[in-house]
Amino acid sequence: MRLKNLQLVNFRNYNDLHIEFNEKINLLVGKNGQGKTNIVESIYMLSFGKSFRTNKDKEIIKFNSENLYVGGNFFKYGSMRLIEVAIGKNKKGIKVNKIHIQKIHELLGNLNVVIFSPEDLKLVKEGPKERRLFIDKEISQIIPKYYNYLTSYNKILFQKNKLLKTNYIDKNLLDVYDENLAKYGSYIYILRRDFIKKISDIAMKMHENLTNGIEKLSISYKNQLGICEEDTVSSVYDKFLDKLTNSREHDIETRTTRYGIHKDDLNIFINDLDVRLYGSQGQQRTASISLKLSEIELIKKEVGEFPILILDDVFSELDETRQKLLVNNLSKVQMFITTAEVSHKNIFDKSNTTIFNIEQGQVINIENGGN
Ligand SMILES: Nc1ncnc2c1ncn2[C@@H]1O[C@H](COP(=O)(O)OP(=O)(O)OP(=O)(O)O)[C@@H](O)[C@H]1O
Ligand SMILES: [Mg+2]
Repeated sequence: MRLKNLQLVNFRNYNDLHIEFNEKINLLVGKNGQGKTNIVESIYMLSFGKSFRTNKDKEIIKFNSENLYVGGNFFKYGSMRLIEVAIGKNKKGIKVNKIHIQKIHELLGNLNVVIFSPEDLKLVKEGPKERRLFIDKEISQIIPKYYNYLTSYNKILFQKNKLLKTNYIDKNLLDVYDENLAKYGSYIYILRRDFIKKISDIAMKMHENLTNGIEKLSISYKNQLGICEEDTVSSVYDKFLDKLTNSREHDIETRTTRYGIHKDDLNIFINDLDVRLYGSQGQQRTASISLKLSEIELIKKEVGEFPILILDDVFSELDETRQKLLVNNLSKVQMFITTAEVSHKNIFDKSNTTIFNIEQGQVINIENGGN
């Protein structure tokens, strides 16, 4: 996958920007607050239809403007596709190859993007919610219908919990909610199980690489149903509905839902010790890097092409060995790297790097490598 170009109109601090990208490394260099992340944020929008920094679309529209536009051409499976996102004060439209899409899952899986920011270095350290979000984003861009299951599940869970908070609880309605939670939940459980199995194999190898074979990283699926290899959607449905039914009294008492995919997490072990509890800061960070980078291989395996990789401000967080490892090991991946550190320019092979120098919402100068 390769992003060819990008056009921004009234996007954050950009008036009207058009850039052509290098098929290998794109380095966005500039002082703080100049607009580097804004560019990668817009690339992310082409992939997910929304920002990774805010849920409020109107914050992204340039101050004192009415509408924004982001458009980008990219190559996938040998042909070029165009994604466009337009946002007005109260409306939003997304087009793929000039055709309006109705639902976000029609966009997902077009442009595959892996983004790595300093927050991600805390992936292992942080709470289960962040890890679930990581899992959900990744599966959604590989299997877009997963996003639909998840949206439906969350909607029902919200309704059920709302009902549990009322004084007169309609038990028949609770039955319907539980059956639907089991219906969508069983698909999600199975897809998560399969995803985690695949990513754990890749992450283990990645981690071995990063630690010179000293540490063995193992990742597994932490869930309340004890889901195993043999389980199918229908056996999970039965297990899950059973749990929900048995915890009915408990749910009514506590006014919330005890079992479900909203309680899932990952077990993350290094050399048989739980990294979250016993790992050093460094081990937790390295495990996060392994986990995060394994998405790249997985997308290549599942989708058939490498995703594009965004490293937002994360480069200076890595030590020199890892910086080199990243750049050398991922030579087939198109990268967008933001940095405020001018000296980073020297790390990259000039022949496949384009440097965009950014100042106050403008690309003031482009240093072009052989492209
Ligand atoms: N809606 C908006 N309209 C106009 N300007 C905006 C808008 N939202 C943010 N900005 C401006 O964008 C700038 C921040 O851009 P960005 O986050 O891309 O910076 P950066 O170059 O990544 O900086 P850093 O190195 O600190 O991460 C700020 O100066 C901010 O005022
Ligand atoms: Mg930034």
